Amino acid sequence: MFHLHPLNKYYLMRFSGAAPTDVNDDSDEQDSEVTVVNQRVIVVMGVAGTGKTTVGRLLAEALGLPYAEGDAFHPAANVAKMSAGTPLDDADRWPWLDAIGEWIRDRAGHRGGVVAASSLKYVYRDRLRACAPGAVFVHLTGGRALIEERMAARTGHFMPTALLDSQFATLEPLRPDEAGVVVDVSGTPEEITEQALAALRLLPAPPRTEEPSP
Ligand SMILES: Nc1ncnc2c1ncn2[C@@H]1O[C@H](COP(=O)(O)OP(=O)(O)OP(=O)(O)O)[C@@H](O)[C@H]1O
Ligand SMILES: [Mg+2]
Repeated sequence: MFHLHPLNKYYLMRFSGAAPTDVNDDSDEQDSEVTVVNQRVIVVMGVAGTGKTTVGRLLAEALGLPYAEGDAFHPAANVAKMSAGTPLDDADRWPWLDAIGEWIRDRAGHRGGVVAASSLKYVYRDRLRACAPGAVFVHLTGGRALIEERMAARTGHFMPTALLDSQFATLEPLRPDEAGVVVDVSGTPEEITEQALAALRLLPAPPRTEEPSP
């Protein structure tokens, strides 16, 4: 089950009279109060191993949008630190977030996109929003034991399980003033994706500064 963020409950009440937009509807209609979800920049957030990459790819595929892997924007120095089991500090993260921000700014000026980026702190998300004010966050949440089990089963990834504790300690859930949805990850990737899409459809349209181009 997904649960709506408090802000989105407000949106839900506000928009309860409107029919959800079909996810495959790629019309350019912008008058509707209901979001056209495939014209959004979606940031899939959450601690390591929650399925950001797995679900992010599926979301992008379902929406017909480009997908970007947040990890790919890390400078080499950050990758080396994480490989050594050293948590990144905020000074390490700003250039990473700015690089992701450039991508989402570009996608926001087009038809949207999906990027997986842990975005654990409010200030990190604010840094991304500075680039694309209409960005929405899909927070994938799950219990420590489940996430650890999934991480242990995964091979060939640079994030050691030991960093999971600091990830949970750092995590700041979405605040009421942030556009986003929260989805529990105990289901299959396909179920999680469907739940995320259903929740995203209920969000209002993002602020628009220019017409999208293909
Ligand atoms: N819903 C799911 N059910 C079962 N296994 C899953 C599910 N989602 C992801 N996995 C598996 O759990 C592992 C972690 O998933 P994934 O790599 O997508 O997480 P992530 O959030 O991108 O991690 P990281 O922060 O390290 O990039 C992978 O092996 C993936 O195949
Ligand atoms: Mg990933």
